[in-house]
Amino acid sequence: MITFHQQTAAVQPLAEPEQGEEHIVPIPRVSVQAFCETAETAAAVQAAAEDRRMTKAHVRVQMGGIAAAIEAYRSSPTPNVIVLETETRGEDIINGLDDLSHVCDAATRVIVIGHVNDVTVYRELVRRGVSEYLIAPVRPLEIVRAVSLLFGAPDAKPVGRIMAVVGAKGGVGASTIAHNIAWAVARDLKLDAVITDLDLAFGTASLDFNQDPPQGIAEAVSAPERVDTAFIDRLLSKCTDHLSLLAAPATIDRIYDFTAESFDPVIDVLRASVPCVVLDVPHLWSAWSKRVLVGADSILIVAAPELASLRNAKNLIDILKTLRPNDRRPLYCLNQVGMPKRPEIKAPDFAAALEDEPVAIIPFEPQLFGTAANNGQMIAEIASSHRIAEIFRQLAQTITGRTETKKTRAGRLSPLIGKLFQR
Ligand SMILES: Nc1ncnc2c1ncn2[C@@H]1O[C@H](COP(=O)(O)OP(=O)(O)OP(=O)(O)O)[C@@H](O)[C@H]1O
Ligand SMILES: [Mg+2]
Repeated sequence: MITFHQQTAAVQPLAEPEQGEEHIVPIPRVSVQAFCETAETAAAVQAAAEDRRMTKAHVRVQMGGIAAAIEAYRSSPTPNVIVLETETRGEDIINGLDDLSHVCDAATRVIVIGHVNDVTVYRELVRRGVSEYLIAPVRPLEIVRAVSLLFGAPDAKPVGRIMAVVGAKGGVGASTIAHNIAWAVARDLKLDAVITDLDLAFGTASLDFNQDPPQGIAEAVSAPERVDTAFIDRLLSKCTDHLSLLAAPATIDRIYDFTAESFDPVIDVLRASVPCVVLDVPHLWSAWSKRVLVGADSILIVAAPELASLRNAKNLIDILKTLRPNDRRPLYCLNQVGMPKRPEIKAPDFAAALEDEPVAIIPFEPQLFGTAANNGQMIAEIASSHRIAEIFRQLAQTITGRTETKKTRAGRLSPLIGKLFQR
């Protein structure tokens, strides 16, 4: 059934991606061909093609509108989706589409980008089977959403969100935070969650959850052709009612050199079957770790309150913002704050340099964290009413999009940090 909720979205400018928490399902390997009439729309479709959710789709953008499309499909097969821009009005659009329908495969979906906001035209287009009608000027995300909706029909499987947690530096507590957040998502939000340990050689998720599963993520990445829901199900070990673990072997008898796409099959299957997938991403910058971060629905960077963390967090946020122009920017939190005798960079200085407030400031509590780690327990299991347990509950809400994050408030840069960023 074709619906028109896209029309209202098209006439109203979208919220800035940074504020928006809309979940748009990634688009499968389909072919999309666009025939535009204006350079602006062509640029928007091209930008949509580069969006992380469209990387699997094959997108081709050309000019010439409906006439060029009719010409092209006289002699070549039609793709899964045709995007047509037309500057013409009423009757002309309808006539053009009628001509196109003679050369177009019946299974091909058509999205029209028009320049008139006219309800009779909408109705006629719907009657002719046009899937969506967007009104120019269109934003890249509107195109991504329109294509995504074609393949995410109401009867499609529930789709999960991927949340990546990564350290700005090694040892800053990224894994600990990822595990505690996943636990809180499962326990407090009652969402089914899977914690996925991507640190195959040294991962600590199985230790932290006191689990010793015989199999885990290594079996999945080494046999990508076997990966499906049933296979992944067998590799998961259950931690609590709603939480499962895809554990790392944490052995170093082999070398883990992954290609960029190594984790794609596992993440795709998890996304299709679990509402909340927390990825514990090790602190490294490789083709696969970059791809995993770029493809996540939300990113949390964990930083310690010192200069190397600040520099690296800034670099990570900058590059990820560039690679994900239609997404909310990565979130960050400060951890191990208040370590005795350590000179620290204060939260307002971080906020000024990163142009964003941290979503949490977690104090250094070696007794509490040490006990939890040694017992294979979460912070809330040891001290449920401790303020750090509360911080993890709030973080679980924030990264699952249950609450708004605070807006930026610039602080004053201390001279050294100021110098670092005057480049
Ligand atoms: N707020 C904190 N206060 C005290 N200790 C902490 C805190 N957060 C984490 N830790 C401890 O710091 C150590 C490192 O944590 P963790 O392994 O989670 O870091 P990581 O960033 O994932 O490290 P790696 O780079 O090895 O992946 C652990 O012993 C953990 O218990
Ligand atoms: Mg880690």
